Amino acid sequence: MNRNEQLELLRANLKNKNLFKHCLATEAVMRALARRFDENEEVWATAGLLHDIDYDETAQTPERHGNIGADMLAGSGFSDEIVAAVRAHNPAAGAQRVGLMDKALAAVDPLTGLIVAAALIRPEKKLQIVDTQFVLNRFGEKLFAKGATREELRKCEEFGLSLEEFVTISLDAMKSISGELDL
Ligand SMILES: [Fe+2]
Repeated sequence: MNRNEQLELLRANLKNKNLFKHCLATEAVMRALARRFDENEEVWATAGLLHDIDYDETAQTPERHGNIGADMLAGSGFSDEIVAAVRAHNPAAGAQRVGLMDKALAAVDPLTGLIVAAALIRPEKKLQIVDTQFVLNRFGEKLFAKGATREELRKCEEFGLSLEEFVTISLDAMKSISGELDL
């Protein structure tokens, strides 16, 4: 499936515009991380783009989130590594994170949310004026964007990135698609 087909698949399943943008952000960050680790950019980007494909369907049953999406992707012929990363990104779904991509996806997911929330509290509401230190400061405020689970996000250290480098790579990747993110 090429990217346009992937986007169509995602649009057919996700009705919420903000969630769609969250998926684009996750895609961009995963691509940048793949480059950082010399991994397959297309595979990582696809996992990022499609990781929340079951979000609408599992809205009432969050413990199924990830599992349903993984089954959908397996049925559409996506590779085992993509299926596994999607299945394991939701801690409540109960699947083990094994590979580097599994761990990266689980940490990127909350970070994109934290970065968006950080941009939105600036009067300009633009990513371009947000820097790494600003995001790190928000990270330290436990009540800010509470849904961006700090514990998951900090697991970047398990795959060899300091929080600072993780934020910098992610912020730069999101800035590169700021138009698509309307930020
Ligand atoms: Fe997500």
